[in-house]
Amino acid sequence: MSLKPKKYDTTKERLPQHIAIIMDGNGRWAKGRNLPRIEGHRQGVKRTRQIVETCGKLGVNYLTIFAFSIENWRRPTKEVDFLMHLFKEVIRDQVPDLVKNNVRMRFVGRLGKIPEDVMEVMRWGEETTKDCSGLTLLVAISYGGRSEIVDAVKKIINKDIPSDKIDEKTFCKFLYAPDVPFPDLLIRTSGEYRVSNFLTYQTAYTELWVTKTLWPDFTPSLLLKAISDYQKRERRFGEV
Ligand code: IPE
Ligand code: IPE
Ligand code: MG
Repeated sequence: MSLKPKKYDTTKERLPQHIAIIMDGNGRWAKGRNLPRIEGHRQGVKRTRQIVETCGKLGVNYLTIFAFSIENWRRPTKEVDFLMHLFKEVIRDQVPDLVKNNVRMRFVGRLGKIPEDVMEVMRWGEETTKDCSGLTLLVAISYGGRSEIVDAVKKIINKDIPSDKIDEKTFCKFLYAPDVPFPDLLIRTSGEYRVSNFLTYQTAYTELWVTKTLWPDFTPSLLLKAISDYQKRERRFGEV
């Protein structure tokens, strides 16, 4: 028996079941190199690919990545158009690899706002990966935590559900991905200490982990560091 403690405990039971990531800092990464912001987004995609693959290999069950917030629609048209084009390109490109790695892809957000050509590729991606049983990758796009709550309320009203039938369990059935357990660990890159309207309902008891590293520089070993820090924490959920 080795007495040397393992640096990272990646046994399945010790892993966070669901990791959520706010992939922030693409623009600053580009700015620091005197490049246009879109180059930061391109580099960011490369990291995303690597991190999805790592989560799959580790045996994490769910990964939710924040790709585009509902507030991000307010960015200059040029950047928004570029990002929509990039999503389309990346999904088209990556789906064969996702299938190979047994990753199921799903989208959450106010998808009605997304251009039809991008939506088409998104639907194709979901359909093509629907039988993959390894990691479930949830891509939050045109996503806002508050909008998700408002959308849930609307669905409840439209179904004429009486108020005395509504408790937390019922309410959760109307969220965008009702079958997915809440995130255990939320990672934010670029050193910002805020949640920026991400998974507002779901992160009530999520462990937060922030790094100054900008998303295009985020590596699998930083992910392991976040997981290892998470494992050292005591989650009390309000109890003693
Ligand atoms: C995150 O990077 C990606 C998206 C929001 C689409 P940013 O574009 O927010 O980069 P910074 O925060 O300006 O550096
Ligand atoms: C959060 O980053 C959204 C995504 C990473 C897609 P932002 O850059 O939009 O957040 P703020 O503006 O710093 O709060
Ligand atoms: Mg940002």
